[in-house]
Amino acid sequence: MKKILITGSGGQIGSELTGELRSRYGAANVIATDKRSLTGPLVESGPYEMLDVLDTKMLGDLIRKYKIDTIYHLAAILSAVGEEKPQLAWNIGINGLYNVLEAAREHHCAVFFPSSIGAFGLTTPRNNTPQDTIQRPVTMYGVTKVTGELLCDYYHIRFGVDTRGVRFPGIISSLTKPGGGTTDYAVEIYYAAVQEQQYTCPLPAGTFLDMMYMPDAIHAAIQLMEADPSKLKHRNSFNITAMSFDPEMIAAEIRKHIPDFKMDYRPDPVKVAIANSWPDRMDDSAARTEWGWDPEYDLERMTEEMLSTLQVRE
Ligand code: SER
Repeated sequence: MKKILITGSGGQIGSELTGELRSRYGAANVIATDKRSLTGPLVESGPYEMLDVLDTKMLGDLIRKYKIDTIYHLAAILSAVGEEKPQLAWNIGINGLYNVLEAAREHHCAVFFPSSIGAFGLTTPRNNTPQDTIQRPVTMYGVTKVTGELLCDYYHIRFGVDTRGVRFPGIISSLTKPGGGTTDYAVEIYYAAVQEQQYTCPLPAGTFLDMMYMPDAIHAAIQLMEADPSKLKHRNSFNITAMSFDPEMIAAEIRKHIPDFKMDYRPDPVKVAIANSWPDRMDDSAARTEWGWDPEYDLERMTEEMLSTLQVRE
């Protein structure tokens, strides 16, 4: 039976992954942790502990206390905040991951590590970005993601730790908002469409980025952790994507449901520079071949669900 610990449970991905893991493996077997003191469903639906990933002693204590065998390590700083606070992004991104990997080595845990489209840079081929290609990111976020991919590979090769991970694109969801990413606009735009029928976009028209709806992202993480390890050649850096669009395309899709929706542009120079250094669309055939990655949601279906969920709630 799996005993799972999740770091960063209160974040955009963690808040939904925790629920799905609890329904699959039993609530008592999935320990939600976060640096912040949380309230609500995460805390009420199963075990929850406060944990700062920089606190190695507490991490080890929790792994022993709950006999953890699998860690989903989600605690991190997103790309735009990482440019405001690069030292913090390094500290949490790298030292946090190092602590998790060391604990996993010592206590024989498997580790899921989310890398990102941010692991690529200006010299990476932008279209159909290959699985194995040039990675020279120009953001601290990207530096931590490339380093993280390498560290996870190292712990697998050198110590036999069962590390696995994907390069997530921008993730769109309606439960918990992302905080400080470059792709956040693709979440904000739905809230703005429902609440004000108007949105001012921080990225210009023509900025294409890979994106994915949360149910596919959750499914990807769990499916990869359950995959037959003998079939995995890449392990810690699978390109995965479900769609690629620019602001004009998502606005047009929203207008099919909210015809009066208006969008104008006020480009944020930091986010524009980051987005311009990332792929337009990744090639995710390695993930499809090695562990059966096959997303369900495209822009049309995601937009229907996002708007209907937010229209009921907001
Ligand atoms: N969503 C992330 C960000 O924009 C990219 O992985 O920072």
